[in-house]
Amino acid sequence: MPIAMSALAPRRSGTGALAACGVIAIASLVACKESPKAAQQAPAVAASEPGATPAVSGRHAHDPAHPPIDCPLREAGADHHGHRPFDDVKKYAAFLESPERAAWQKPDELVGFVGLKGDEVVADVGAGTGYFTFRFAKVLPRGKVIASDIEPEMVRHIHHKAMTEGIPNVQAVLGAPDDPRIPSTAGVVFVCDVLHHVQDQLGWLKKIHQEVGAGARLIVVEFKDGDLPQGPPKSMKIPSEQVTALATQAGFKKLTEDTKLLPYQYVLTFQKP
Ligand SMILES: C[S@@+](CC[C@H](N)C(=O)[O-])C[C@H]1O[C@@H](n2cnc3c(N)ncnc32)[C@H](O)[C@@H]1O
Repeated sequence: MPIAMSALAPRRSGTGALAACGVIAIASLVACKESPKAAQQAPAVAASEPGATPAVSGRHAHDPAHPPIDCPLREAGADHHGHRPFDDVKKYAAFLESPERAAWQKPDELVGFVGLKGDEVVADVGAGTGYFTFRFAKVLPRGKVIASDIEPEMVRHIHHKAMTEGIPNVQAVLGAPDDPRIPSTAGVVFVCDVLHHVQDQLGWLKKIHQEVGAGARLIVVEFKDGDLPQGPPKSMKIPSEQVTALATQAGFKKLTEDTKLLPYQYVLTFQKP
């Protein structure tokens, strides 16, 4: 039976990340707790999460020439108390990363569609597990990806993967529900399957518009209307005309609308004039 993405959408815990900065013994989390220097010198520890790369003997698996970035959760001042189990997020992550999803989400085609030169800063907002983040990182040898999410465990997951797999051009950022915290250098803001989760959609798009510079593109991917085997319930779907109206009101100019690339979603492209 198909799983509706929204059914598994992580709830805002508003709690922070005990595990993120101390409980799970993985290399990146050492970097969350200690100074970059101490983190580099820390002994190797076993990765305890599927897909994690164990640290190599005596140092971490990432390139020591690139000092570890600080823990994005601590940086954002996230509260460490009342953290909920990682299992919840693992289930959600399993769905987002499933081969079944890839068949209709066509992530590589979508990344190709964005048409990057390789030196841009891409903000993947509502990045989740980093499904697109790490694909963008591969096509940005001289650029970088800012992966922003409001769910601390997703941010921790991306930070951990970037650190343990030695991916220096990915930076995880803990955003707020009304502020994705995008740097002004971002040339592309990519928002896939996120807008229908946002409460104040106009306010959110206005914030994005305010944060990026002139010429920056905004790519919005949302579910098409109709009785489809994937996507949120009808009540949560946003028609493309509505997204266009909201983005235009926020100050963006519409560039393109594509309904052919993906079977269940449309892709809208805007630009800040
Ligand atoms: C369905 S997932 C999509 C993840 C990713 N974009 C992908 O396509 O694999 C939606 C994500 O949006 C995040 N999210 C929800 N509301 C948000 C907001 N106001 N700002 C940023 N992210 C948000 C959730 O935490 C979740 O990780």
